[in-house]
Amino acid sequence: MRLHVADHPLITHKLTVLRDAKTPSPVFRSLVEELVTLLAYEATRNVRTEPVEVTTPVARAQGLAISEPRPLVVPILRAGLGMLEGMVKLVPTAEVGFLGMVRDEETLLPTTYANRLPDDLSDRQCFVLDPMLATGGSLSAAIQFLFDRGAVDVTAICLLGAPEGVEHVRQATEGRDVTVVLGALDEKLNEHGYIVPGLGDAGDRLYGLV
Ligand code: PRP
Ligand code: URA
Repeated sequence: MRLHVADHPLITHKLTVLRDAKTPSPVFRSLVEELVTLLAYEATRNVRTEPVEVTTPVARAQGLAISEPRPLVVPILRAGLGMLEGMVKLVPTAEVGFLGMVRDEETLLPTTYANRLPDDLSDRQCFVLDPMLATGGSLSAAIQFLFDRGAVDVTAICLLGAPEGVEHVRQATEGRDVTVVLGALDEKLNEHGYIVPGLGDAGDRLYGLV
C-alpha cells in the first residue's frame, strides 16, 4: 500500500476550519467538497489515459483523454457522499457506485447495508471516498469488495486518518495495488475509536444526528 499525506497550506487551512467544533454544517459541507477536489488532484495522478489529438483554432495538438473503462468512484455512505460532488467535478466521466457501511459503535466493526456496484469490475480503476479512516475496518472491507469483483487498483481518498487505521489497511491489502491519500495523518484513536484530534463524527457533522 502506498500512503500519500497531503502537505499543502491550503489543505491544512481548510482542515483546520473543518476540525473546529464551531464550524456549522453548511460550511463543513463546502469545505469537504473543496478538500476532496484538492486531494483528488494527487489521487488521480496515475489515472489511465490515452493519447488523443484535437484541432485548436491554430493547429493540431496532442493531448490525453481518460481511457476506457472509465474510472469508478465509490463513496462509502453516509459520510463519503459529502465527497462525491467534489470528485465528479474533477473527473466528470467517472461512473459512480455506492457502498453503504456503518460501524457498530461498541465493537467498532463495520456492517454493509447497501451495495450498488457493477458485478464485474475487471480492469477498472476505483476511487473510494470516505472522510474518516479510523480503525480501518470500513475501508478495508470496501477495498476487499472491489477486488473481489475484479478491480485492478484502488485509491482511497480520506480527509483524516489514524495511524492504527492506516496500518490495518496496509496489512489487509498486502500484495494488492492500493493507494491511500490523506489530508492529514492524526495522532491516534481514542477509547471510542474516534480519531484524535480528528473532527468528531463526520456523518453527523455533514447531515445531522441520526
Ligand atoms: C464513519 C466513517 C467511516 C467509518 C470509519 O462512518 O465515515 O466510514 O466511520 O471508521 P473505521 O475506520 O473505524 O471503520 P460511520 O460508520 O459513522 O457511518 P456514517 O458515515 O453513516 O456516519
Ligand atoms: N468515524 C467518524 O466519523 N469519526 C471518527 O473520528 C471515527 C469514525
